[in-house]
Amino acid sequence: MPLEIVIGTQWGDEGKGRIVDLLAAKADVVARFNGGDNAGHTVTVGSRTFKLHLIPSGIIHPHTIGVMGNGMVINPVTFVNEVEMLQAAGVAANPERLRISHAAHLITPAHRALDAAQEAARGQAQIGTTGRGIGPAYTGKTSRNGLRMEDMLDASSFYKKMKQHVEEINTMLVKLYRADPLDENAVAREYAKLALQLAPYITDTGELVYRALQQGKRVLAEGAQGTLLDLDHGTYPYVTSSYATAAGALVGLGVGIVPVERVIGVTKSFQTRVGAGPFPTEVFGKTAERLRGSGKNPWDEFGTTTGRPRRVGWLDGVLLRYALRVNGVTELMVTKMDILSGLTNLRLCTAYQQGSQVVHELPLGPANLTPYEPVYEELAGWEEEITSVRRWQELPEAARVYAQRLSEFCGVPVRRLSVGPEREQVVDVPL
Ligand code: IMP
Repeated sequence: MPLEIVIGTQWGDEGKGRIVDLLAAKADVVARFNGGDNAGHTVTVGSRTFKLHLIPSGIIHPHTIGVMGNGMVINPVTFVNEVEMLQAAGVAANPERLRISHAAHLITPAHRALDAAQEAARGQAQIGTTGRGIGPAYTGKTSRNGLRMEDMLDASSFYKKMKQHVEEINTMLVKLYRADPLDENAVAREYAKLALQLAPYITDTGELVYRALQQGKRVLAEGAQGTLLDLDHGTYPYVTSSYATAAGALVGLGVGIVPVERVIGVTKSFQTRVGAGPFPTEVFGKTAERLRGSGKNPWDEFGTTTGRPRRVGWLDGVLLRYALRVNGVTELMVTKMDILSGLTNLRLCTAYQQGSQVVHELPLGPANLTPYEPVYEELAGWEEEITSVRRWQELPEAARVYAQRLSEFCGVPVRRLSVGPEREQVVDVPL
């Protein structure tokens, strides 16, 4: 039963989309298991760049079946737009090869309005959400008050449920947050139409994935966000509301404890974060500008979903080791090695320090992280451009040392490096 799981080991945006695109060449099923359209997965194929928020990136390979698992929250408007975008680009995103779990939850305009109202009410303590209604949709799910994709299959009861849902959230918007209410009839009408468009895609995807695994097909589980944004294992409360870690794949696809062949952890060669929350290795000024890029290229460090400039910093080895532990990562892929070209010195955070106290593990609670200073190991940088390198031996020695040091520090082998956004811009690391 060859299940492979790809997860982010940082605060999201590690470049999972391009790694999934690479691995999907050999997969039969590509399945997303968490989050919603808060994600942004960028895949570059030739002159085309696809920006996917909801549909698994592996769908771009024509032989794959795409699954959107029960752990997801789905905004049907985004879904329809993405299907249209893919079809216009010649990718067959039709119900024959794209399936949505009946048990995934729905995101509605009421969830989005509540997300905005809650963020505004947080004032200084804002999380910096993507504003996509993610938190309210998962809150509805856990309070057993949510709407599931299967509700869309019964047109008459769905209209009533939608109206009631908007009315309930309107009460909160008006009474609790002094925000404007939504027109429940208009929203219910819009969603009733969307239900007809989505219905052919809705099925028991748990059964589909299980059957594929039984038949020895390769299933690639595609994580969204990253470990440090996981609801339980991330830097709470500056997290998202889903399980972005490897165990989340099993729950979010509904397949039980099947043997997992590989857990592939994706990390950038440096650290980034969007939104608020602690970031011990954050840098500012010239180095930050260098790592972030100007925003002219689609791969520069500006949010795929929100366009916000990302906070940037040196690679945090303490957080990386933590992420490898909570996911059971078996191998690492390091993206954006090319961005480090031209930096004279590189820094890897190997511990945190407060006065004379040095800690090697993540301290409890994000508030407790703030007083710590990173302890850095300095590594030599390299001048050479490496975007055209395809073989390990052709990389500058300092780049090889950086990758080797990461393997050694984390105790997990780095198996592949990316040196640019294109499909072929990868370098395999010899065993
Ligand atoms: P939410 O998921 O929109 O509720 O946002 C919660 C936090 O997760 C915020 O700090 C967001 O910036 C962050 N976040 C959510 N999705 C992503 C993502 O795909 N990449 C990076 N950060 C994300």
